[in-house]
Amino acid sequence: MHHTAIKDAAAYINDKLTHSPELGLILGSGLGVLAEEIEDPITISYQDIPHFPESTVSGHKGQLVIGNLEGKQVIAMQGRFHYYEGYSMQHVTFPVRVMKDLGISSIIITNAAGGINKDFNPGDLMLIKDHINNMGDNPLLGPNDDALGERFPDMSHVYDTAYLSHAREMAAKLKLGVREGVYVGNSGPTYETPAEIKMLRTLGGDAVGMSTVPEAIVSAHAGLRVLGISCISNMAAGILDQPLTHDEVIQTTAQVREDFLRFVKEIIGTLPN
Ligand code: HPA
Repeated sequence: MHHTAIKDAAAYINDKLTHSPELGLILGSGLGVLAEEIEDPITISYQDIPHFPESTVSGHKGQLVIGNLEGKQVIAMQGRFHYYEGYSMQHVTFPVRVMKDLGISSIIITNAAGGINKDFNPGDLMLIKDHINNMGDNPLLGPNDDALGERFPDMSHVYDTAYLSHAREMAAKLKLGVREGVYVGNSGPTYETPAEIKMLRTLGGDAVGMSTVPEAIVSAHAGLRVLGISCISNMAAGILDQPLTHDEVIQTTAQVREDFLRFVKEIIGTLPN
């Protein structure tokens, strides 16, 4: 996406704001409720923002919510754009560029994911330690805009180590048994076959989903500090003898909603600089 498109979108949003956001939040399937906790919210529909795509999946709202959460100025995406909807990687990650232009220095990226690791259970929360880009595409393909980031960005610490330790501490404080692991990003929209899940487990994956990786790559390119959290909404294909459904994903995330909210709010309130 062009610099001018980013600037246009950011200018449209900035006109409605009194404070610059410092922290971005991308809220995954069923996790958008966190945005309802934002104080003095300004909401902006994606469809009103220049160059923003529109989201098409149920359980995703399609708006930005900007305001104060636990003493931090946040900008939350209630609903995100998925590659499987047919958007290019550049469109999927455009909001990250815009949030960065608006002033954020950190971002919390959340998702619902299938558990590959057999020790996991539906309803677990997992801190993302690293990811595997298995989407067959990359948002940084094409000419590099040096104003946005470097040509060959380092990916050794996409997920900020200080944020990871902070999140671990907050989990302990709240007595939440939070997992950690590697998130595999697949294109979707099909769920995986049992053979694919076995392969991904062999390759070191702990959870699998259809998002997060593009946004995390662009965040790393843009120099943002990233915290990633997966809600394990189901066991991935072939682990339990039952078909996977989007309804199960939405139902499980609804069940862990309270823990998710408490956890993320605790993290945000005390996030180190
Ligand atoms: N696979 C891929 N994406 C998902 C899953 C899954 O099992 N659960 C939620 N998102």
